Amino acid sequence: AHMSLQFFPDGRFKHFLSLEDVPATALESLLNDAQQLRENAMGGTQLRHHLQGKTVCNLFFENSTRTRSSFLLAAQRLGADVFTFDASTSSGKKGETDIDTLKNLEAMGVNAFVIRHSENGAVEKLAAAANDGTSVINAGDGRNQHPTQGLLDMLSIRQIKGNDFSKLKILIAGDIKYSRVARSDLNALRTLNAGEIRVCAPASLLPTDGTLDACIHYENFDQAIKNVDVVMMLRLQRERMEEGLVASLDGYFQEYGLTQQRLGLAKPDAIVMHPGPMNRGVEIADEVADGPQSIILPQVSNGVAVRMAVLKALLA
Ligand code: CP
Repeated sequence: AHMSLQFFPDGRFKHFLSLEDVPATALESLLNDAQQLRENAMGGTQLRHHLQGKTVCNLFFENSTRTRSSFLLAAQRLGADVFTFDASTSSGKKGETDIDTLKNLEAMGVNAFVIRHSENGAVEKLAAAANDGTSVINAGDGRNQHPTQGLLDMLSIRQIKGNDFSKLKILIAGDIKYSRVARSDLNALRTLNAGEIRVCAPASLLPTDGTLDACIHYENFDQAIKNVDVVMMLRLQRERMEEGLVASLDGYFQEYGLTQQRLGLAKPDAIVMHPGPMNRGVEIADEVADGPQSIILPQVSNGVAVRMAVLKALLA
């Protein structure tokens, strides 16, 4: 359904909702633009003409540290007027619907909404309700998609491993079933022709739909990580423990936690990624998160550049 919503008939982006149907040319063009912006993404005034006169609203119905702040900075650094809507202090608390909220903010002259929501498909529904001239960017919906995270992850891999992903063995480990990050990353890795995609998680945290088509599944982490170039760790969504999907945090760390010893089984120049927020000592050890192979903070820096590139593609 998002295919027709996301693109104009000529192939340009109208909204940015999902990486599922984004062709390689469009993905690479966004990555190239983000890389060019990367040098200037951290400040300066030379980019502020791109979105002058445009208004961006950060519409977050769910918590965020990285995505919300980096979209705010990205819009500011491109010269847009930008404001953040705080759902917890809004009239949504009095029962106003999400669509009415969007339509009212739109009436104030918002050109683009950056939306996070806890429900699958909620951002797509809001995009369908927006006026023709309004763009919507998905900043994460339920367990469905987090397309700008997928982009920043691809940019982070490219910067270190080069543009040819066909040579790479990539492992995605952890709570894949509930991860919108994993879904967007898997879409992008397939589109960019990744050589080998491995997944490792307990059976209770593996999706049973088509998400893992063409991935190699490992139950044993030590086997999964052998000779990989990239290790992408995922946050264990702790609320799953109450559903009994994970027996104990200690047990999870023993079997699926990334320790320095385990990382030693990957290629010596392997990189370690995590989208954040991290559960230290649950899916990743401090020594790895803060170690020389970790690119977790460079991922965050790339988030600003990628979000600038997406805002530019939609609004400039
Ligand atoms: N990676 C990510 O989306 O982090 P936040 O939830 O803090 O935005």
